[in-house]
Amino acid sequence: MCGIFAYTGKKNAAEVLLDGLTSLEYRGYDSAGIFIPEAGTVKAVGAVGNLKAKVPQNFKGQSGIAHLRWATHGEPTEINAHPHSDCAGEIWVAHNGIIENYKEIKDKLIKKKHTFVSDTDTEVLAHLIEENLKKENDFEKAVIASLREVRGTYGLAIAYSKEPEKIITGRMGAPVVLGLGENENFIASDPSPILRHTKNVIYLRDGEIAVITPSSHNIYTLDHNRVIGTPETIEWDISQAQKGGYEHFMLKEIMEAPEVLKNTIRGRLIVKDGLAKLGGLESVADKLRDVKRIIIVACGTAYYAGLVGEYMLEEYAGIPVEVEVGSEFRYRKPVIDGDTILLAISQSGETLDTLEAIREGKRKGALALGVVNAIGSTIARETDAGIYNHAGPEIGVASTKAFISQLTALSLITLFLGRQRQMSATMGKRIAEELLLLPEKIEAILGQKEYLQSLAEKYADSRDFLYIGRKYNYPIALEGALKLKEISYIHAEGCGAGEMKHGPLAMIDENFPTMAIALRDSVYEKMLSNMQEIKARKGKIIALATEGSEEVRGVADDVIYVPKTLEMLSPILSAIPLQLFAYYFARQKGLNVDRPRNLAKSVTVE
Ligand code: M6R
Repeated sequence: MCGIFAYTGKKNAAEVLLDGLTSLEYRGYDSAGIFIPEAGTVKAVGAVGNLKAKVPQNFKGQSGIAHLRWATHGEPTEINAHPHSDCAGEIWVAHNGIIENYKEIKDKLIKKKHTFVSDTDTEVLAHLIEENLKKENDFEKAVIASLREVRGTYGLAIAYSKEPEKIITGRMGAPVVLGLGENENFIASDPSPILRHTKNVIYLRDGEIAVITPSSHNIYTLDHNRVIGTPETIEWDISQAQKGGYEHFMLKEIMEAPEVLKNTIRGRLIVKDGLAKLGGLESVADKLRDVKRIIIVACGTAYYAGLVGEYMLEEYAGIPVEVEVGSEFRYRKPVIDGDTILLAISQSGETLDTLEAIREGKRKGALALGVVNAIGSTIARETDAGIYNHAGPEIGVASTKAFISQLTALSLITLFLGRQRQMSATMGKRIAEELLLLPEKIEAILGQKEYLQSLAEKYADSRDFLYIGRKYNYPIALEGALKLKEISYIHAEGCGAGEMKHGPLAMIDENFPTMAIALRDSVYEKMLSNMQEIKARKGKIIALATEGSEEVRGVADDVIYVPKTLEMLSPILSAIPLQLFAYYFARQKGLNVDRPRNLAKSVTVE
């Protein structure tokens, strides 16, 4: 949700910055901009390709800042594109976040004769630094003084044309990572643009600012006290953040599912004893034994993973579970006590709604756990314990491989907590053994991608889609519908199959097809009846069925077969054909599946 990137070193800054923006592109594509002290500023509406086309050959320098915008304040025009500057055009700011008190600061600065050109909150910061520079006479001190005045969220890259080698950043509620190279340093919203230059990074914490030059990096608090940051080495490989021959990241990431699942369970199963060994939970293992209740908080796809987690944990660990979207949780008065675990699920580890829910829960005494993919992210750092997904970077805005990994991680946590309680070793062993078989079963589903493409083509003219499922596959129906609508922009609705008769069934006719998840599990017969209800209204049905279920053919118009597995693990398999179907459906419509309109990866605003 907006991306910042800055460079200072000896290389051609324009090349480094534009290249970096390309890897950050999933964070925003309303506009892009670049400032290089020796060369000037270029901005363009739309994605980074438009900016690249505008940057002249002789746009040279050895440092600079760049930005990708996901619009909040002000329309996505060139005027509103970042970086924004002060009156003199000397101080330039690239910003991810929202300055909440921008209006009052702007009014104050207008009285002091500052002239504003954009509608953005960010421009206020550039002018405020200009104003404070008059008093402080020092760039760093002026930035610190300004950041002490603003309220809201920010991840920043600030350049000053009179000190071209120096870039300043600050972080409050929006991620910032420093990349430490040989005679060059970087600032970015996440490691993806840094990876090709260095794997040594420092994640900034809220309330910290950092000043980088080619040969130094210094971190301070907003009281100007020095902080010693801890460098970390990123394990992710640059190739993981590239398309690797695929047309889109989304397809590449769906196809990575078998490997992702292996990485999520690697070293975490003791099959012979039916146990999960989760190092990230060891420090709180004794507390977890006494836990009476779990509240899962998450957003979007991660929320649907949480719903599956609820079914797993209640059935196999016997712990009452509630699941809530982060944006609702924080604004009501949830009843929480010391026996409650708050479990956050987040791919990016930066989703503000989820993060704030965790903070609220911790304030009320809950133990906070995380299932997070992005290593070193804010949620990973602010939770008391948790497990990493190890799914590798997910670039496509539509979450796919992270979802598969989240479901897998939740099954591991269920095994861990279940075995602390009533789950038998035999049951634990069955779950562990079945998890190990899943990569091969996923391969079998991925092998049907041409068939899924042909189905997507057959149904591509549909303007609506209903997704139905029951029990473990009810959340998968919700997730399947989300996948389709977010990248195809058509109306898709997910619904518990038993709920259809309470309303959604009214929509069904010959032009309103249904994707029915009808696996051979404990609710199979019920699903078949629900499909009959649709058939009776002339609705077309694509059924997702277990291999060998021939009777489904009698009700459905088309059938996608998936291998049999344990019911609790079946969502891991059923999610994949729905991801592929959504992908090919959107592609058939000629849409940019990796960058759906109005959306961005990593939602760091409310
Ligand atoms: O990074 P997170 O897992 O916290 O993100 C949560 C949602 O924003 C995310 O899953 C979103 O719904 C995806 N676009 C869905 O594909």
